[in-house]
Amino acid sequence: MGSSVEQNILVTGGAGFIGTHTVVQLLKEGFKVSIIDNLDNSVIEAVDRVRELVGPHLSKKLNFTQGDLRNKGDIEKLFSKQRFDAVIHFAGLKAVGESVANPRRYFDNNLVGTINLYETMAKHNCKNMVFSSSATVYGQPEKIPCMEDFELKAMNPYGRTKLFLEDIARDIQAAEPEWRIVLLRYFNPVGAHESGRIGEDPKGIPNNLMPYIQQVAVGRLPELNVYGHDYPTEDGSAVRDYIHVMDLADGHIAALRKLFDDPKIGCTAYNLGTGRGTSVLEMVAAFEKASGKKIPTKLCPRRPGDATAVYASTERAEKELGWKAKYGVDEMCRDQWNWANNNPWGYQKKH
Ligand code: NAD
Ligand code: WQD
Repeated sequence: MGSSVEQNILVTGGAGFIGTHTVVQLLKEGFKVSIIDNLDNSVIEAVDRVRELVGPHLSKKLNFTQGDLRNKGDIEKLFSKQRFDAVIHFAGLKAVGESVANPRRYFDNNLVGTINLYETMAKHNCKNMVFSSSATVYGQPEKIPCMEDFELKAMNPYGRTKLFLEDIARDIQAAEPEWRIVLLRYFNPVGAHESGRIGEDPKGIPNNLMPYIQQVAVGRLPELNVYGHDYPTEDGSAVRDYIHVMDLADGHIAALRKLFDDPKIGCTAYNLGTGRGTSVLEMVAAFEKASGKKIPTKLCPRRPGDATAVYASTERAEKELGWKAKYGVDEMCRDQWNWANNNPWGYQKKH
């Protein structure tokens, strides 16, 4: 779309999993991009690989700053040097278990960082924001598919930060109607760029299903614990809405266009999911098919706090953003395996 040419986007947390994939798509779509990331949960190698993927020409339109949103001065430095048309705000901590053990760290990082960002944006009159929310704001939904107007509920401190930040966004926009804010509620992001050069690289033992399966497949972990085999689902394991990270990346482009084109957007939430539910055991089978590797599994008790089945209603995103996920679980597993097989130790060069 012509109107996007040379629009300048600040991407917080752009060195992370979803950030890197989104930055590739932004550059390819003609946006200029500045990343701010403190590299708390990422490495500079990921940004180097983004540059490699887009090539030397588009790479010139990408700036990286190592900075921390908790330091207002780090954000101010960026805004005082250039004008941003919008911010895509990924930066945050996201490990549910860690948030239960150390809630202060989560409130400090996710809340203080975001408030600093809004303050600096307001000061420099940049009032367009795309915020990374999460399906976690639906808690344990009583009905599925999850619709954006469902009642919201946090199940843990991480979820509480997302819920608070959604409320903060709604309050700011209500008080100052010139703000345009899109809240994107991601379901379960998985997969990797088709090149196999960028992907998810969690530190330590993974909490989430797909990175865990991936590490079993490459021999870093012996077997997958399947948490729950007595759920009221077809095969007894829990059901989630897995979404390919490249579909998610494209969802951000659609959200930006909506922000720029629709002065009446206000503060609106959109689900980014496929609308389809897949069980843990179905996901294991799909990964085995894609990789040709056997994934040994152990059936274990349910993980506390887990819901039986969660998947998205995609109606609003389809209708208002004109966005729909293209990929199914086979492509998610194919690309996740391609990333894993080429980078068994993630971004580490050797082990
Ligand atoms: P990620 O950890 O890979 O990326 C987040 C990035 O933010 C990291 O590179 C980290 O170093 C950076 N960061 C964190 N705190 C920062 C700070 N104070 N200042 C500067 N940089 C900081 O995570 P991701 O999977 O790419 O997730 C991105 C966003 O999407 C997060 O807000 C997360 O809560 C949300 N989200 C993720 C998922 C998921 O399953 N991956 C699901 C729903 C929502
Ligand atoms: C998926 C399914 C597990 C690991 C989390 C956050 C949510 C959002 C997305 C950020 C569940 C099962 C998992 C394992 C397993 N993140 N599982 N063995 O819990 O749906 O959502 O990530 O916003 O807030 O809570 O994702 O990948 O952890 O689990 O059996 O080793 O896989 O029990 O049913 P979840 P997940």
